[in-house]
Amino acid sequence: MNLTLPNTNRANILVVDDTPQNLRLLTGILSEKGYQVRPVPNGKLALSAAQKMPPDLVLLDIMMPEMDGYEVCQRLKDSELTKDIPVIFISAINDVMDKVKAFGVGGVDFITKPFQVEEVLARIETHLKICLLQQSLQEKNQDLATAIYQLQATQEHLIQSEKMAALGQLIAGIAHEINTPLGIIGSSIDNISNFWDENLAKMPQFFQQLTEESQAGFLALLHRSTNQETLFTSREKRKIKQQLSNELMAGGIENAEEIADSLVDMEIYDNIEELLPFLKLPDWEVVFNTAYQFASFKKSISLIQRATAKSGKVVFALKSYAHFDSKQEKVQANLHDGIETVLTLYQNQLKHGIEVVKNYGDLPKIMCYPDDLNQVWTNLIHNALQAMDYKGILMIETQQQEANIVIKFTDDGKGIPPQVLPKIFQPFFTTKSAGEGSGLGLDIVRKIVDKHEGTIAVDSVPGQTSFTVSLPIY
Ligand SMILES: Nc1ncnc2c1ncn2[C@@H]1O[C@H](COP(=O)(O)OP(=O)(O)O)[C@@H](O)[C@H]1O
Ligand SMILES: [Mg+2]
Repeated sequence: MNLTLPNTNRANILVVDDTPQNLRLLTGILSEKGYQVRPVPNGKLALSAAQKMPPDLVLLDIMMPEMDGYEVCQRLKDSELTKDIPVIFISAINDVMDKVKAFGVGGVDFITKPFQVEEVLARIETHLKICLLQQSLQEKNQDLATAIYQLQATQEHLIQSEKMAALGQLIAGIAHEINTPLGIIGSSIDNISNFWDENLAKMPQFFQQLTEESQAGFLALLHRSTNQETLFTSREKRKIKQQLSNELMAGGIENAEEIADSLVDMEIYDNIEELLPFLKLPDWEVVFNTAYQFASFKKSISLIQRATAKSGKVVFALKSYAHFDSKQEKVQANLHDGIETVLTLYQNQLKHGIEVVKNYGDLPKIMCYPDDLNQVWTNLIHNALQAMDYKGILMIETQQQEANIVIKFTDDGKGIPPQVLPKIFQPFFTTKSAGEGSGLGLDIVRKIVDKHEGTIAVDSVPGQTSFTVSLPIY
């Protein structure tokens, strides 16, 4: 730090002494040295003079009638306006206990009468300098505190802008994630409206003509046509279709192939022999076709339900992620919710080659900054995906260990070489090319973990890299 020595020359000094001779003497010496001197003959006047215009230093006699020097000093120290003014006692008393008392009430020095002029001047000069240095230090401290405060604000800003940058990178994938369900909803609604147009008029007659047996077949078909999301790939479906077709043929059914096709669409795969009697009834065809249409109607509805839920989930994740907690207060939160939010946003980047293996323990809610923690999960997951080149297994394990919650992310990517490991938490350290990484991710992660008084550890060999975050439960 660079402190210029303050100039003490025009300092304002209040001299308090009840002996006129002493007062004149001191005033003379000090004025000659260039100080501005205000002489006063008693404590009361000294206090009001100090209040009116606080001096830079007080030279104070002890033995005075009415109010002695100790009390004057005490009162100066009691007032906010004058408490920092250095007080030098000047007295004929030469008892140790009195000197101790002088320091006890806040004096900074003690000069014994009779005094040497040089000594008085030297001491006054020294205390004036100390005092000015102190003021200057206080100002510097204030500047430093301001700088630290600004730095913290910048850091918050940095964290926020990194978060938005991450979101920006994800947006294309997220748009897709919302568009797909929207497409599904659109086409399902088309299906429903077609069904309506085609079937409404025929319905009353259809139901009137149903025999008891056909009705049973109709309901059985509808009942068995599940609403489950298809579990089979199209190749598996072709195989199942072939098998069904064979079974139907063996049961003596004509049009076996066509029927097998429709059954697979309705996701009816087994116990085909139950359907054989029904498929031999005279009116089976119209009943079967109507059941088929009802089934696809039902399927459209459940597709819409699932698509709505899915896009709702993405929007919710987006909203919770982009949320900015300006109050910065800790709240109770479940860490799994945050991890799930991040996984939802990364869905599009995960689904083409990443298997996420979750091993979640029972976690209590903890007091934390959930928005910030979301960023921790984001950065760790993003790094893992990059290290695996978006192909591999990402394991997420959580558990409570005594008074801590431990969250561990493990990827089977290329790992971190030992010579790189000590640097990864440094700001701006990156092994990635410009568009890929800024090198701020882990720096931010550590800052946020620190803010939660937690720890983060890393463990890496090629094919297995783990980042373990441990957060205290309060
Ligand atoms: N899971 C991981 N596997 C391999 N290397 C990693 C992993 N996580 C982080 N790293 C290394 O640490 C560096 C710093 O990470 P980070 O601070 O997130 O910055 P960035 O991802 O922008 O490079 C990365 O460049 C990478 O070399
Ligand atoms: Mg990163």
